[in-house]
Amino acid sequence: MAPQVPAAFPGIIDPDLDDSDDNGYAEVQGRVINPPFSFGSGGVELVGKEMTQDLQAQKALAEANPSTSVDLESKGVSFGSISHDGVGFNFSQVEGIGPDLVVRPFGRTGCCATVREFDTGAMQFHHGIQPVEVVGAGVDADGDGVADELLEGELSAMHIFQVSLERPRQKKVSKQTPQERAGSDVFNDIGCADCHVREFVTNSKHLTLSLPEVMEDPSANVYFSINLTRSAPGFRRSGSGVVVPLFADLKLHDMGPDLTEETGNSLFQTARLWGIADTAPYLHDGRALTLGEAISEHGGEAQANADAFDALSAADHDALIAFLKTLRTPRSPNKNL
Ligand code: HEC
Repeated sequence: MAPQVPAAFPGIIDPDLDDSDDNGYAEVQGRVINPPFSFGSGGVELVGKEMTQDLQAQKALAEANPSTSVDLESKGVSFGSISHDGVGFNFSQVEGIGPDLVVRPFGRTGCCATVREFDTGAMQFHHGIQPVEVVGAGVDADGDGVADELLEGELSAMHIFQVSLERPRQKKVSKQTPQERAGSDVFNDIGCADCHVREFVTNSKHLTLSLPEVMEDPSANVYFSINLTRSAPGFRRSGSGVVVPLFADLKLHDMGPDLTEETGNSLFQTARLWGIADTAPYLHDGRALTLGEAISEHGGEAQANADAFDALSAADHDALIAFLKTLRTPRSPNKNL
């Protein structure tokens, strides 16, 4: 029997891993996650770390000035406000970030502040490999007869490799067709750029790596620094920093009931749209096969934008899609490592 694709990925309640139903595929019970690529992650990590530093300073300001509401803002993105009553913080007005005020760009649901934090979890969860920095040196924590499964230096090398990958490319504005340029305007007009912020400029062009990592203080325990303007990452310089054209705000948004996971979670990191032309399928679980489907399926905080998209004239609709298709992944990744 030819394998069939399940009608809907999530919501499988009757696991059948060995296919005893003989329908050609294994039903699994679990989260279906469509992982984003790692290209340009050095720029993403740097933007996130600089935002975290701003937010931590604002948090400290609130603590030093009890009963004063302090705006949480970094690089033009608002995360609400915070206050302190002399005993504890009031987080009720904080938006789009957890109470530790650490920006976590990695993972669809914003699990991780750095590539290393993500890799440390992924090694254990996906590969059954226990990093020394988690279980300790010489410890066989999973009782499989192997200690020191992944050394600190090995994780550092992985981190350096991933944050050194090329950034995605966008067709230069001067080379875009009139339709693509019109689509760029539509993108602004119907509010896509409110969450999919086109670019950030960093203060520094150097991404620093730390061990051990202190998420609230990215300046602690630095052991290595990468110049993101050099090959391979190749970010464009701006002042003392670099331009990171990621098309996201590094915030969590409530995407409404249709995109809610089986776990009940409806909060997702704004997907970075750089490279989007080459990365179908779309959304956190890969349910959308086309860009148009991905946009129409926005709900919750982006419901009005999805409605505006669905109401576009055919010409504006096609222009917007043509504009999104100017966002490409690197042509020859790893060439200049
Ligand atoms: C309120 C914030 C918000 C607004 C406004 C918004 N988006 Fe999104 N967008 C998101 C989030 C969050 C996701 C990730 C959802 C998920 O993972 O399921 C996303 C995902 C996407 C994706 C899929 C990307 C991928 O890799 O999976 C596309 C394409 C997209 N948005 C385009 C648009 C366009 C075009 C508009 C304007 C009509 C728009 N978005 C408006 C927050 C927003």
